Amino acid sequence: MCHQKGFTLWFTGLSGSGKTSIAQTVEEELRARQIKVERLDGDIVRQSLTRDLGFSKEDRDKNIERVTFVAKLLTRNGVAVLCSFISPYRARRAKSREEIGEFLEVFVECPVEECARRDVKGLYAKAFAGEIENFTGVSDPYEDPEAPEIVCHTAQETVVESAAKIISYLETEGYIPAI
Ligand code: ADX
Repeated sequence: MCHQKGFTLWFTGLSGSGKTSIAQTVEEELRARQIKVERLDGDIVRQSLTRDLGFSKEDRDKNIERVTFVAKLLTRNGVAVLCSFISPYRARRAKSREEIGEFLEVFVECPVEECARRDVKGLYAKAFAGEIENFTGVSDPYEDPEAPEIVCHTAQETVVESAAKIISYLETEGYIPAI
């Protein structure tokens, strides 16, 4: 599609809340519509661009700062960018919003008890056992978004429902053509 309007969907939420799954589903739907997409995901980006960083507040903010730089370049070139990072700090997300401009915050909301019950990567068990320090939601803060464009309640809705909500928002707000 030509003259595509760039934007960044910024998925924020606890580990295991469903950020990656929803972003993957949105990615598939956008691709099916011939829209240019790039997905940046914490677990992948942390193996390359930010592999030198850990999970202190300073390092998490650096992680988000670098990803924001990339998202900004892609967004201004008409790409639909899907960023999924815990990005626990409100002030850092606000800076990303300012830098990127077309920034749509998606709060992937899920109670920590439910994330721990899912424990997809087995990290909550380790965090509760004290084997991982500074684990978000357990021994490190997560600051809820105050005015996200979209909220997905993943304890109550399916990945497909959350993705459909996002696609519908993009259509209604004119980010992608309605079909
Ligand atoms: S962020 O805080 O800097 O935005 P990011 O989304 O890139 O985090 O990475 C989070 C992923 O790193 C988690 O899903 C989990 O797999 C892993 N991880 C390892 N240690 C921690 C920790 N202390 N807190 C949160 N996630 C961690």
